[in-house]
Amino acid sequence: MSADRPVPEPEGAGGTLWHGRFEGGPTAELMAFTESLSFDQRLWPDDIAGSRAHVRGLARTGIISDLERDQVIDALDVVAGELDGGRFVFAPSDEDIHTAVERRVTELAGPAGAKLHTGRSRNDQSATDLRLWCKRELRLIAERVIALQQVLLDRADAAGQIYLPGYTHLQRAQPVLLAHHLLAHGWSLGREVERIFDALVRIDVSPLGAGALAGSSLPLDPDATAADLGFARRFENSLDAVGSRDHVAEALFVLTLIGLDLARIGEEWVLWTTDEFGFARLDDGYATGSSMLPQKKNPDIAELARGKGGRLIGDLTGFLATMKGLPLSYNRDYQEDKEPLFDAVDQVRRALGAITGMISTATFVPERMQAAADAEASSATDLAEWLVQRGMPFRDSHSIVGALVRESLRGERSLRALVLEHPALGPDAAMLVAPGVSVTRRITAGGAGPIPVAVQLERFRASVAALRARI
Ligand code: ARG
Repeated sequence: MSADRPVPEPEGAGGTLWHGRFEGGPTAELMAFTESLSFDQRLWPDDIAGSRAHVRGLARTGIISDLERDQVIDALDVVAGELDGGRFVFAPSDEDIHTAVERRVTELAGPAGAKLHTGRSRNDQSATDLRLWCKRELRLIAERVIALQQVLLDRADAAGQIYLPGYTHLQRAQPVLLAHHLLAHGWSLGREVERIFDALVRIDVSPLGAGALAGSSLPLDPDATAADLGFARRFENSLDAVGSRDHVAEALFVLTLIGLDLARIGEEWVLWTTDEFGFARLDDGYATGSSMLPQKKNPDIAELARGKGGRLIGDLTGFLATMKGLPLSYNRDYQEDKEPLFDAVDQVRRALGAITGMISTATFVPERMQAAADAEASSATDLAEWLVQRGMPFRDSHSIVGALVRESLRGERSLRALVLEHPALGPDAAMLVAPGVSVTRRITAGGAGPIPVAVQLERFRASVAALRARI
């Protein structure tokens, strides 16, 4: 937008909506530096909604007539049509979407339009718009997170008894079902949806009626405009209403956490799709090639999901730094809330779409997963626990099995052969070293084996349905 909008020339003091007190007009440098229209244009539906509610409120309390109300509402409808159809012509004096809409309404509705801003400041107006925008956009993000949860659930359902190594320190630790691994990400994403709902409780508060900072001498009714706009409630304190952005920080925090979930999934898929791991293959539609190396198939979505995590942390921490030490109430610094928030929402929305598509279309390679998990040493803990069940203290069994693993690593005899020969172990214990056995031994609630995972799948399915019902 800033590209197609010429830097405004200095003009007469009458160019802006706040010119009354000024003899000289704003300079081009001031306008270029302080404008927010280039990025707050996307708030237009919310600005129109806020103005409709405000003007209805003014008419209800008799500050304007019903006729004037209707003239302004009609003008707002025209403006909405122009903005929606890309026909709205911005003027050089339009500093932000709020001034642009009001200017155009006044052009269309004449004297009635000039009453639109009665009892209102851009401070409560812009705060109202952004809260309306947040409510809508965060719900859409929540829907997308749930869509990714659904893909993880579907793939977990279909994964059956497929297992792969579970890792700690990125070293093979114990085999886990693929379903268990996929659902680990699913539960984490479910907490982000809950965090969105939590944040929405505090976002869902109307600041309209706070005015510039202190309310009004006019008989406005902030409760009524809050209800008209579909807010859960109105502000309790006008200084707080225009002078706080903790809800924006909270939204950024949740978006950043989702970004970090996706970054972690991304890192995993970068590994899984290497020749070295070979656990998964990407669908052509979700992979990229190399401009020079004809054989390459690259996981760019996964890498960018990882990379965007850094950018999101920047959006959050940059905004926190902007807020630090700002005195009550409104400060122009708050205009800096929008770009990081819009960026975070845009990036997270796109990343969710791409990662969801990538996972839903990828092919798992169970042979590679299971071969990696079937290394004999994967059953070491099962052997130690087998001895515990026969009365041996765990420290002793850990030491015996550890020594056998060390011996097997010399490469002369397999762990299974050593277990067979060991006086405390023998043929029954040696069965634990066979491929695919270890994962079936994870029987405790929430564990990685088939018995608890079957329960977990149903609980996860119910949790996704419950989240979806709250949207
Ligand atoms: N574009 C501004 C913002 O986003 C509007 C508020 C300007 N208010 C003022 N008192 N100068 O915050």
